[in-house]
Amino acid sequence: MRIAPFALERFYERWEFRTELMLSSSDCESRAVAELLALEPDAERHLLELRLGYTEVPGSEELRTAIAARYEHIEPGDVLTLAAAEEGIFVACHGLLEAGDHAVIEGPCYGSALELARSTGASVSVWQRRHEDGWAHDLDELERLLRPQTKLIYINSPHNPTGMQMPARVFDRVLELAGEGDVVLLSDEVYRGLEHDPSARLAAACDRYHRAISLGTVSKAYGLPGLRIGWLASRDAQLIERVKDVKLYTTICSSAPSELLVALAVRHTEELIAASRELVLSNLPVLDSFLERRRELFAWVRPAAGPVGFPRVERDIDVHAWCEQLAAQANVLLLPGSVYGQPRHVRLGFGRANLPEAVARLDRYLEHL
Ligand SMILES: Cc1ncc(COP(=O)(O)O)c(C=O)c1O
Repeated sequence: MRIAPFALERFYERWEFRTELMLSSSDCESRAVAELLALEPDAERHLLELRLGYTEVPGSEELRTAIAARYEHIEPGDVLTLAAAEEGIFVACHGLLEAGDHAVIEGPCYGSALELARSTGASVSVWQRRHEDGWAHDLDELERLLRPQTKLIYINSPHNPTGMQMPARVFDRVLELAGEGDVVLLSDEVYRGLEHDPSARLAAACDRYHRAISLGTVSKAYGLPGLRIGWLASRDAQLIERVKDVKLYTTICSSAPSELLVALAVRHTEELIAASRELVLSNLPVLDSFLERRRELFAWVRPAAGPVGFPRVERDIDVHAWCEQLAAQANVLLLPGSVYGQPRHVRLGFGRANLPEAVARLDRYLEHL
């Protein structure tokens, strides 16, 4: 198996912990352990008494029960927990695809979906969306891409990096097309709950289609990426079993303290996600007015969901080198779109509390350009 280097994570490995102000993160402001333990009266005692043995392969009953309650038609037995959503993409691709198969991946996308699908030996088509079209989904294009060998379609909404929400009529048609070909729909829902207009929230794919697998995590909307727990949920038990076969070669089972803390957090989803959403919604106008002031430099399709947006840089410069220069000189971190194969773009993140400070620093730096 050969996997292309993960350009996005390589960039962050180099810069994320060396740059003072993060202005491109896809996760919302993170929380302290104490904040989670305050959610329930016995939580601290349970954590302190926890024995650090191996945990159950599909995840603890407590965690799977909490996760299943987030869906309409999912039972605890339909959930496979993982050491982060990233593992979910790996095990789903490697459990469900092989040479001779074909997969369709929505693009641009968080790189692992594309590269991990390719690494299985399957042939991969990108269902590409474009800034010039307002990042709209072209359903005719999706239909053209599907083949008799298509085994998997990957979609992501709310979307990284464009901040777009898939419209309900597009989602319905994707489900229909997947159903017609008996194709597995891997639906990356890691930003679910961060729709700017909650009435635009889509149903979880696993509640709508028996061959759909919904991918979830506490990394983004819950602000808990350091717990490294994600999950896959599907009503198709065979799919879950095939994916589990791969998990037995990656992590076997998850970290016990993380499982306990994530179960606690997921039982309090509404309150935790509401706080993240509020922050996202209060930060977005700050970015709006910055981008309006700097409209000769950036053009963006305003995000409708999630904590990231993907403006195009309107100057003929090497955007990747410029982002590195900005990190080194101004201590503000943007993510160059080159890591998504979109070299004219940058990703901005607006889920962190210090966003106004980061925007002000960037603004000042631009004065001297
Ligand atoms: C769309 C998407 N899927 C999956 C992941 C991986 O999430 P995790 O950190 O929970 O592994 C990310 C992280 O940025 C993402 O943006």
